[in-house]
Amino acid sequence: MPAQLIDGKRLAQATREAIAKDVTELYSQSGIRPGLAVFLVGDNPASAVYVRNKKKACDIAGFYVEDHALPATISQPDLLALIEKANADPRIHGILVQLPLPPHIDSGLVLRAVSPMKDADGFHPYNIGRLVEGDPVFTPCTPKGVVRMIESTGIPIEGKRAVVIGRSHIVGKPVAMLLIHRHATVTVCHSRTKDLPAVCREADILVAAIGRAQFVKADMVKEGATVVDVGINRLDDGRLVGDVDFESVRERAGWISPVPGGVGPMTIAMLLANTLEAAQRAATEGRV
Ligand code: GUN
Repeated sequence: MPAQLIDGKRLAQATREAIAKDVTELYSQSGIRPGLAVFLVGDNPASAVYVRNKKKACDIAGFYVEDHALPATISQPDLLALIEKANADPRIHGILVQLPLPPHIDSGLVLRAVSPMKDADGFHPYNIGRLVEGDPVFTPCTPKGVVRMIESTGIPIEGKRAVVIGRSHIVGKPVAMLLIHRHATVTVCHSRTKDLPAVCREADILVAAIGRAQFVKADMVKEGATVVDVGINRLDDGRLVGDVDFESVRERAGWISPVPGGVGPMTIAMLLANTLEAAQRAATEGRV
């Protein structure tokens, strides 16, 4: 029997509708509207699409959005000055700096310039530390979405063997951390892992975040496993595919997320969730 679908698109839609209701409630109770400042530097076409989709979702949910579309030639001090302004602006509860940044800009420095209390992406070292402690303030959006998708299957994570393929700061490491905190036994694989297919076959939960088109084949998947595909890759024929060979793996897995319509929409929904949570914190702290 083919795997059941983890429908990220539907889950994201339901999440966004719930967020829109919470936005209305927050505004009527406190006069606060969640505000997101979005920084896009340069003209990377993929980044432009991601940012457009994020801004649109914010508009639909009733957020205040401040858009900073900046030339690739902007100097690092000028970018840092704009971020400082957003840090100090009471209308802004979340700040998003779309990555990658141009090579003349020190990305680490820029991410550390974002106030940890407005770090909607959860990339600031303070927030990474809080995540490792198991007491996160902001959880990175894609990992948060991945875990919600796994939880949506109703299968308990506790006690399961989880394998994460990919060790990036943005996805692999935080996903591993979130699964550890949910009491999974987690292995993180990468390009130097010996006999990666054998490690993957041990996984009850398999998360693919490597950025290689259709890398995970059916013979790397345990029968009945839950497979979440974080990859977005464009094939030569123009098709968009994930890191998982969907057609073969769906015949073996118990649950599988598609690409498109899987993790991508959830990343956007989680950005909204993080910004809303920051605005709710501002409201309860009396900081408007
Ligand atoms: N570039 C690729 N993924 C992301 C993300 O989740 N957030 C930001 N800010 N940039 C990205």
